[in-house]
Amino acid sequence: MSTRVKIVTGAEELRHLCNEARKRGESVGFVPTMGALHAGHLALVTEAKKHATFIVASIFINPTQFAPNEDFAAYPRDVENDIAKLATVGVNAVFTPEASTIYPPGEETRVRVGRTAAPLCGISRPHFFEGVATVVTKLFNLVGPCTAVFGKKDYQQLAVIRRMAADLMMPVTVVGHPIVRESDGLAMSSRNRYLSAADRERALSLSRGLAKASRAFKEGERRSETLRSLVDDEVRVASDSVDYVEIADPETLVAIQAGQPVGERALVAIACRIGATRLIDNEVLGENG
Ligand code: PAF
Repeated sequence: MSTRVKIVTGAEELRHLCNEARKRGESVGFVPTMGALHAGHLALVTEAKKHATFIVASIFINPTQFAPNEDFAAYPRDVENDIAKLATVGVNAVFTPEASTIYPPGEETRVRVGRTAAPLCGISRPHFFEGVATVVTKLFNLVGPCTAVFGKKDYQQLAVIRRMAADLMMPVTVVGHPIVRESDGLAMSSRNRYLSAADRERALSLSRGLAKASRAFKEGERRSETLRSLVDDEVRVASDSVDYVEIADPETLVAIQAGQPVGERALVAIACRIGATRLIDNEVLGENG
């Protein structure tokens, strides 16, 4: 059933709306997005509704998390459809600001991220997490959510935001939601729409590699280099370039080097390019969901 969604573009208007909701005794839940929504995003909203009564989603393609050579200009934009989708899952308000609302002339402050942001995507996208941390801080300051929900497909992003919220003593509970996959295993992503039919077939190598590592881990394999090779072999033949295939500590994200055995849980994380599309995927071995 669709709800009536309030569309908000102004920062103070959003702050006021959320304050009014709290005055009525509501709890505010928040799902930040960059739009081009799919079922994975809608699952984040459904999760947020378990924690709060008044749900705000944002649609904002954040320029500071894109490098000049990345797909900011081409990033899919579909705001009207996105709002219609958000209405079907009971979002109360959608924040769709202009870039100048979030980054008004003269602004200069950024949130500096640390060790959690350094490995994996931090190597090939060195400004990405600073941009994410900055925009998420701004959005948290406007919405003041008690709970904010992020997808685990962006595992490192979730870890950086959790670290930031703890370090900066933000009064918000950050909830991670399991990856939502297509029936053939492809992790849902706004960027999947860039894939041609042939590229989409090749993109299945990511989930196939993860499934192989997961199976081996369940059968008792603990050598990090063997687990890594199972994934790497799948991904490398199918993709045009590989940013990383890593076995890492799920808390610190530090890579577990060849020769070091993995423990009870281990993160397998992948970033690669299929055609021009950069895809990421991951699984925590030894964990469900
Ligand atoms: O995951 C995303 O869509 C973005 O990185 C986020 C968290 C909305 C910040 O721009």
